[in-house]
Amino acid sequence: MIDGGFEHLEKEIRKCANCSLHEGATNPVIMKGSRDPNILFIGEAPGKTEDMTGIPFSGRAGKKLDEMIGYMGLSPDDYAVINVLKCRPPNNRKPRKSEIEQCKPFLMAQIRFLDPRVIILLGNTAEEAFFSRKEMQWGVPLVTDEGISVLKIFHPAAMIYQRSRIDEQKELLDKNRHLWE
Ligand code: URA
Repeated sequence: MIDGGFEHLEKEIRKCANCSLHEGATNPVIMKGSRDPNILFIGEAPGKTEDMTGIPFSGRAGKKLDEMIGYMGLSPDDYAVINVLKCRPPNNRKPRKSEIEQCKPFLMAQIRFLDPRVIILLGNTAEEAFFSRKEMQWGVPLVTDEGISVLKIFHPAAMIYQRSRIDEQKELLDKNRHLWE
């Protein structure tokens, strides 16, 4: 368990050497958005642009996420964005289980500090990190023991590579508007 405030957590992330990913990272990527969000989006790991800017979803997938957030009708105060991993895996490979486990205390501490009403898991990696197993259906929300509504939808990068996913994603969002409206 990581104690202290948000600034302490950020410092801990910046000096983390728990796995080897920090060796190749230009910047750890911590969060963007509100510090008091209703909705928290959780992605997978920084890509090349995020590694350079230090800002989650600041590249191509970020454009898709912004479009999705526009479609949801959210304003900047409503949401925050974080990733399962804070450091970029080489060549954007999938995070390893061990990396997810090493980074998980940071993820859970961020969730605790941000204290959202709704968590939106962007794809399977976010789900596996959050629940330590797979248990969700796409677009079917559940409520945790802590009273947080959790929803799994497609990762924004899937909208780049599979354009047919855009309409499917809109359907998932439309079905769940009651969670944030
Ligand atoms: N993909 C992610 O999951 N996170 C980012 O920050 C960028 C791309």
